[in-house]
Amino acid sequence: MTGEREVVAAALIRDGRLLLAQRTRPPELAGLWELPGGKVEPGETPAAAVRRELREELGVEVTAGERIGADVPLHDGLVLRAYRAELVDGTPQALEHAALRWVDARELGEIALVDNDRGWVPELVALLGA
Ligand code: C5P
Repeated sequence: MTGEREVVAAALIRDGRLLLAQRTRPPELAGLWELPGGKVEPGETPAAAVRRELREELGVEVTAGERIGADVPLHDGLVLRAYRAELVDGTPQALEHAALRWVDARELGEIALVDNDRGWVPELVALLGA
């Protein structure tokens, strides 16, 4: 066993705004905002996981681009990594989240993100061209 399993998170940016999704669970994270994503399945590439997770969670088709920001170690040997994503088809819908929001750089600095995603804010602000 190599041990490490990856969780991908997608930075979907359009017209200078980043898509954030509001969690419904677990109770301690409900109401907080995150980059949409989830666990890479065995045998799946991170890029394929980004495409699958955004299809499942938002109902859109995306392409996955370069990694951004630092690795975030999670519990149980999981590591969280962020990737850029480009919208190819569809309009994001909150299929598994409480709500979605497109935020600009200023709003990103003010919104209540999950702790795990907070370290990416400087890179995300730079991508938003603030
Ligand atoms: O969404 P899911 O439960 O599959 O995510 C797996 C793990 O990754 C969870 O612990 C979740 O809190 C974490 N995660 C995160 N930030 C994200 C996406 C997932 O901390 N943007």
